[in-house]
Amino acid sequence: MIEKIKKAEIHVHLEATIMPKLCRKFAKNNNIKIPEEVFGSKYCYAWKDFYDFLKKYDLITSVIKTPEDYYELTYNYLKQCSQENVIYVEAMISSAHAKSKGMTYNSFIEGIIAGAKKAEEEFGIISKYIVNGIRHLGAESVHETATEVLKNFNEHIVGFGLAGDELHFPPNLFIKTFDMLKKESFPITVHAGEWDGPENIRNAINLLHPTRLGHGVRSIEDPSLVDEIFDLNITLETCPTSNIATNIYKTYEDHPAKQLFDRGIKITVNSDDPPFFNATVGGEYQVMSNLGLSNDQLLLLTNNAIQCAFCDDNTKNKLLKKL
Ligand code: ADE
Ligand code: ZN
Repeated sequence: MIEKIKKAEIHVHLEATIMPKLCRKFAKNNNIKIPEEVFGSKYCYAWKDFYDFLKKYDLITSVIKTPEDYYELTYNYLKQCSQENVIYVEAMISSAHAKSKGMTYNSFIEGIIAGAKKAEEEFGIISKYIVNGIRHLGAESVHETATEVLKNFNEHIVGFGLAGDELHFPPNLFIKTFDMLKKESFPITVHAGEWDGPENIRNAINLLHPTRLGHGVRSIEDPSLVDEIFDLNITLETCPTSNIATNIYKTYEDHPAKQLFDRGIKITVNSDDPPFFNATVGGEYQVMSNLGLSNDQLLLLTNNAIQCAFCDDNTKNKLLKKL
């Protein structure tokens, strides 16, 4: 039955969807050496803790070197999603990573969009993209990225996000950039409440103007913050399997997603960095079903994702009709 439920994913790092087979292929084509010990472990890639994960993330995704690679990566991921009955994907992408590998902003985006178009033609899956600023590359890098996004309007690029090291790069460093985005009414999502607690989430909400939070689950530690998130109608992009893999919670029963759902918070479920955590969108819906959500409630998760999506109203209406 869960297979039949139409799903949506709005928190996935496109570069981190690369499966080992594709990683090896790109490494060979682009003449990049990836140490064998990086492959295989409990998960598809070996990493020890969040900081090691960020390092391995950079190493593994360094093999994606050309717009054609981005095309293939995008197409493959969307194909995989459509097999799980996913009707909409809003994926985060990093132009700073792409540029560090020699691509231009536009050639990188064009590769992704070509893959997205082919997948939509073949499987009917609709996808849009959020450009992420990467916290640990610094405030200047994040500002440059946001400026480039605003200068290069593209109907497939629907929002701006903030990812990376939440603990050492707090929201106050990025005020100027997010004020600029707000002034342009550009949709915003911020990773907050994954690694850090309620104070950081409050700062992210008050200083960076997001309508969605990446994770946001540690808001559960402060009931008045949960009330605020409810009153502000902020959607939480939860990623239970990711949080368990990175040891933020020990078991699915400890994870606050169900509790937040029961409180009336708009949540969605997402895979984050699929092969790094052995996560899939369908798997996250299954997790919520195991935690007691009915099939109608699972459909509500998809509805939440579409309601808070950054795409245009036409696309939203088309998706809602499919539901
Ligand atoms: N970049 C990729 N995955 C991430 C995560 N789970 N948290 C923060 N930044 C990320
Ligand atoms: Zn994330």
